[in-house]
Amino acid sequence: MTLHVGLLLVWVCQLHRMAGTGFDDEDSSYVETITHFPEIKDGKCVFPFYYRNAKFYDCVMFKAKHKWCSLNETYQGYWKYCSEEDFAKCVFPFWYRRMIYWECTEDGDAFGKYWCSLTQNYNKDKIWKYCE
Ligand SMILES: *[C@@H]1O[C@H](CO)[C@@H](O)[C@H](O)[C@H]1NC(C)=O
Repeated sequence: MTLHVGLLLVWVCQLHRMAGTGFDDEDSSYVETITHFPEIKDGKCVFPFYYRNAKFYDCVMFKAKHKWCSLNETYQGYWKYCSEEDFAKCVFPFWYRRMIYWECTEDGDAFGKYWCSLTQNYNKDKIWKYCE
């Protein structure tokens, strides 16, 4: 009985460790990495990009002073800080509920502000931003 409980505990701990490795454990070293590589100022953001097992559709702020983006689809040390023209653009047309939108819309926004989708299918991806 006690042996079983012990084994179970070991097993649970291992599962936990496995699940955790992508994030917590490597977190600090990984977070440091962006500024360990030089910024490539004339680079071009790639959206979406993968960073730390997550997918990003716009510039991100990860322990950096400003928002930045990856220059490769999967981050590999090439990055730049985002300036106005680097942020993700609206994607037109996009699909929202049962309609196709060719411009920013206030539909569905609680504050009546205009927004757009950053992918063609808002229903599926739910990635969006406010329009200027
Ligand atoms: C990643 O992006 C950089 C900058 O655009 C480019 O020089 C490099 O070749 C890319 N790497 C790959 C594997 O595509």
